[in-house]
Amino acid sequence: MTDKGEKTAVRGLEGVIASETRIGMVDGVNGKLYYAGYEIDELAEQVSFEEVVFLLWHDRLPAEKELLAFRDQLVREMTLPPALQDWFRRIPADLHPMVVLRSAVSDLALFDPEAADNSAAATQRKAIRLVAKIPTIIAGIHRMRQGLDLPAPDLSQGIAFNFLRMFLGSDPSPYDAETMDLVLVLHADHGFNASTFSARVTASTLADIYGAVTSAIATLQGPLHGGANQRVMEMLTEIGDSGDVADYIDGLLAQGKRIMGFGHRVYKVQDPRARHLRKRAGQVCREDEGCTYFKMSETIEEKTLQEKGIYPNVDFYSATVQHALGIPVAYYTTVFAVSRIAGWSAHVMEQLADNRLIRPRAQFTGKYPRKFTPRSQRPEGGEK
Ligand code: ACO
Repeated sequence: MTDKGEKTAVRGLEGVIASETRIGMVDGVNGKLYYAGYEIDELAEQVSFEEVVFLLWHDRLPAEKELLAFRDQLVREMTLPPALQDWFRRIPADLHPMVVLRSAVSDLALFDPEAADNSAAATQRKAIRLVAKIPTIIAGIHRMRQGLDLPAPDLSQGIAFNFLRMFLGSDPSPYDAETMDLVLVLHADHGFNASTFSARVTASTLADIYGAVTSAIATLQGPLHGGANQRVMEMLTEIGDSGDVADYIDGLLAQGKRIMGFGHRVYKVQDPRARHLRKRAGQVCREDEGCTYFKMSETIEEKTLQEKGIYPNVDFYSATVQHALGIPVAYYTTVFAVSRIAGWSAHVMEQLADNRLIRPRAQFTGKYPRKFTPRSQRPEGGEK
């Protein structure tokens, strides 16, 4: 039997149910998102990132003491092998942080004696290391490239606080730490998005979790997925203080270009994460800059809805929130990864717990069967 399929290919696998999951649900018609059955509107501003990680992994919210112990376990793992830190000092400064991140995550396997152990217990221990070490890797890339030191994590705080502390080199204000925590809560899982699907495909071959997460990071980087938040900030900078937002958007649409941070494969109404991020962006925006980027973002939202009928996705206001937190634009997508490792790891564990190789089919549209011509008889310029 060939791949000359009997069925029509579904471009981009749109609407295809590729597996079952209990981790998260995206209700694109009603604009709702659920983590393990809990609606994001209830979780946002009420739970910490560590609670979300626990929830996605264990299908229940942790009790108070359990959460503290879990957070402690994570924060104690926020250290890096010294060899990896040395490597950050030597990598070319113009390499995109996402490229360095995916290589560094792959490298973590070299230092983990359990790397190839796919048992549930070992995979969970590796997931803890990944959630803990990804923020440190990102902070390490940023600091060490500039010849700066990498502060040690504060064991009395959580991932969001420690990420900002290590990345920026000083302790964030409680409000900034809370804002970063909200960003992490909102990005943690999103059904079978492209990067999660990559992770599951890789895990389904029984490759280890480091390999699966490396695939996921590579997939997240693209501008149609997590890379959009960086493009949003580049667009806002390009429009500039004095630019006319409406003209700029009209110009993009007239050229048939996409407005970054807008549209979604699943949501046909407002993305609930964007609603939470818009609210926070308005609260944290930089008053020394007259909240310019936030105001421009609101105008872009109005204009795009009016012209194209499409809404902002999670990446749109994430850009202005990250700007307010002092994150350089090249690192925006890495912040997405600090959070999404929660979902990726949960999905890898779910896949391994009841594995079946993910191997779809393609509809072959080439010529077949073709008559073979030996090399010596082939015309110059190739056969037609
Ligand atoms: N700007 C302008 N038009 C858009 C946009 C956009 N951002 N998104 C979709 N459209 C239009 C398309 O031109 C198309 O219009 P048409 O029917 O008149 O030709 C229609 O909406 C449907 O678009 P598709 O490309 O078929 O939608 P698809 O589901 O394949 O794309 C995607 C989803 C890739 C997210 C798209 O909306 C996009 O490119 N957005 C910009 C990049 C972005 O923000 N990505 C982040 C997504 S969220 C995340 O991954 C975390």
